[in-house]
Amino acid sequence: MQTIRVHASKEYDICIGSGLLQQAGALTAAVKAPCAVMLVSDSHVEPLYADRVAASYEAAGFTVHRFTFPAGEASKNMHTLVQLLEALGAAGLTRSDLLVALGGGVTGDLTGFAAAVYQRGVDFVQIPTTLLAAVDSSVGGKTAVDLACGKNMAGCFWQPCLVVCDPDVFATLSPDIFADGMAEVIKYGVILDEPFFEWLEHCDAHAGAESIVARCCRLKKQVVEQDERDTGLRALLNFGHTIGHAIEKCSDFTISHGSGVAIGMVAMTRAAEAAGCAPAGLCERIAALCVRHDLPTAVNMPVQALCAAARSDKKRSTGGITVVVPQQPGRAVTRKLALEELDAWIAAGCAAEDENR
Ligand code: GLY
Repeated sequence: MQTIRVHASKEYDICIGSGLLQQAGALTAAVKAPCAVMLVSDSHVEPLYADRVAASYEAAGFTVHRFTFPAGEASKNMHTLVQLLEALGAAGLTRSDLLVALGGGVTGDLTGFAAAVYQRGVDFVQIPTTLLAAVDSSVGGKTAVDLACGKNMAGCFWQPCLVVCDPDVFATLSPDIFADGMAEVIKYGVILDEPFFEWLEHCDAHAGAESIVARCCRLKKQVVEQDERDTGLRALLNFGHTIGHAIEKCSDFTISHGSGVAIGMVAMTRAAEAAGCAPAGLCERIAALCVRHDLPTAVNMPVQALCAAARSDKKRSTGGITVVVPQQPGRAVTRKLALEELDAWIAAGCAAEDENR
């Protein structure tokens, strides 16, 4: 087992290792006295892993209740949040009890938000079951639900008290869900870690999943420790996300987060190259890496619709929107674009895709 300690407003461990799902209860008991637990999972994950995780908590002395919601981004909303909060109340959970998020990014974000607001804040544990959640959303304390106006529009920062990642669970992921996580993995290589980027250009991601998770979590921990509240450095983690979120929204979430981010990273780099802000050839290299890991690099969508959706991104602030511009593998900078400039960058990034198609 590898243990990575995160020193944020709350200190906690990320435990990564084969077979840890069965040890989740014992690992939690080391940081939290036995109490009532609400085990939250979706309709895909619950039949696969909830019994095993519940048994491990019960064996460690916890009393387990369950809340299961329909799988999918469409559930990540205020309605499901209120249902979960009401379930916590109905089960009689108190401030000293615990929520456990067993699942992917939707489950983690929803459960974290419920933990942050239920009785003004209770502890929660993240047990990611997708690569995407393991390398990104389960670490760092961002919690949220979507609103009609956009993704992750209501939420808060609330750190977990423990993250338990068992890479064995990736074996049940469909190829497209595994690839989804690889988009975030590639992101870390582009913005922070050139040797990792180069390794990804020839690695077997399935065989190396455990070390990929550990590498990404170490990178993310370093960023979160310096900028937990996302006021500076942490913005780098949004590389590809402004266009990515716009693509997700314009597709009515039929295009996944990872696919959106992959297309967004390629489009943003292409636009940066066209504007003379990134070296020639970088876009091609990032696109090749995405293709190598079964990710799309283009989408057929009206540029105007993407621009409108990107303008409502929550990274917008007075006078523009901050985007992430890669400089070389392993290094990126943030840059504030006026909204008209953003439109031009999206057009440049996506128009070239049309030509290439
Ligand atoms: N997923 C981006 C962040 O945690 O800041």
